[in-house]
Amino acid sequence: MEARDREGWGTRSGFILAAIGSAVGLGNMWRFPYVTAENGGAAFVFFYILMVLLVGVPVMLAEFTIGRRTRLSPIGAMLKAGGRAWMPLGYLFVATGFLILSYYSVIAGWTMRYTLEAALGGFSTTPAEYFSAASEGTSAVIYHLAFMGITIAVVAGGIKMGIERASLVLMPLLFLLVMGLAIWAIFLPGAEAGYSFYLRPNPQRLFSLETLGAAAGQAFFSLSLGMGAMLTYASYLSKQEDLPSAGVTIAGSDFLVAFLAGMVVFPVIFALGLSDEIGESTIGALFISLPRAFTAMGDGGRIIGLIFFSALFVGALTSGISLLEVVVSSLIDTWQLPRATAALGAGLVITLIGVPSAYSTNVLAIFDQVAGNLFLVFGAFALTIFVGWRMDYPVTELQQGFRSEGLLRGWHFTLKFFVPIILAVVLYQVGKDTTLVLYQVVKDILALVF
Ligand code: PHE
Repeated sequence: MEARDREGWGTRSGFILAAIGSAVGLGNMWRFPYVTAENGGAAFVFFYILMVLLVGVPVMLAEFTIGRRTRLSPIGAMLKAGGRAWMPLGYLFVATGFLILSYYSVIAGWTMRYTLEAALGGFSTTPAEYFSAASEGTSAVIYHLAFMGITIAVVAGGIKMGIERASLVLMPLLFLLVMGLAIWAIFLPGAEAGYSFYLRPNPQRLFSLETLGAAAGQAFFSLSLGMGAMLTYASYLSKQEDLPSAGVTIAGSDFLVAFLAGMVVFPVIFALGLSDEIGESTIGALFISLPRAFTAMGDGGRIIGLIFFSALFVGALTSGISLLEVVVSSLIDTWQLPRATAALGAGLVITLIGVPSAYSTNVLAIFDQVAGNLFLVFGAFALTIFVGWRMDYPVTELQQGFRSEGLLRGWHFTLKFFVPIILAVVLYQVGKDTTLVLYQVVKDILALVF
């Protein structure tokens, strides 16, 4: 499709809200608290902030640069900006979108179920058993289908009428919900222990390679980086847009919501003495300990729980939309498919790929490790090398709409030297973690067969 008949955002805030919508999601409220807990609390939070600022924001601007320069979706964009040699990176982005959305939708399905549960009958009194029943099996598949159905409908609606309109309503709503919850949590008796775990770093845990790797993986996942989502959203932008300021606004809002989610989850968990449960740090930590806490608080807790899980659902929806949009925009640009056909076709395939994750959280965890960690870090690394070393005039592209050339040169220098070095270290660490996970899988399968 030629750039001139390409769709675009209706307003500047439409783009920013949609990009925030992509960033803010399960990554902030489900993944961030549990990865924080897994990595010892405040020390991780410290690393995470560094990663968002020093690596996340530069990589986000790199994606923006490619997207707005080419005004194409990932595959075409990499071809146009880098030639045939860089096209496989575009394919990797689309594949990552497929894989992440396939299990992301399963978790989003749980949030739908919990929201309905809270609205209709209250949470179960045996949340651990309830979670195992809800998270695996036929009912998980049904909610997964429902979530994919809604996501497909919005993406089929297009940029202005679908994605922009949904984000305009949903993002402010989510912000208010999480903010309200964080204020409510301050008054919980016993909340201090939660704040101290969350905010007071333990010096012994600082400077470990594992924490660094986890912080980087989490930063990319949460900021929707390394798989072309931000690239795609920027491809619908006009040339006048001030991209650096937009990047800082988006990353800042994403961090704020993750931080606030921690300000809800940790006080609640410590106030109710559930910290042992999150120490075990399973995928289900949030879905088990929070309902327990909400039930312990009586009728009021049920309402708070309803608010919490609806916020989670809202965040998941706007993120799921961006994951599907990466795939759909590529089908539109590369194969000239009509939008609705592309959304439905891609959506159905993704739904199928997600079915195994809906049957087993172990499968889900493997998908998250491979696509949600390794592929994103690798994608970000390759992108950085491309924009730092191969792309023509990236600084000039960002200068339209942003005057400070010095800052932009600093950004480019960072992309050339600093970010790739950090990412190489992170890639080594995440590669090692992923190999361990896959090795375990092979061993389990062999044990099952023989
Ligand atoms: N950033 C989203 C979240 O935090 C997930 C996501 C990852 C969306 C990659 C798009 C691309 O939930």
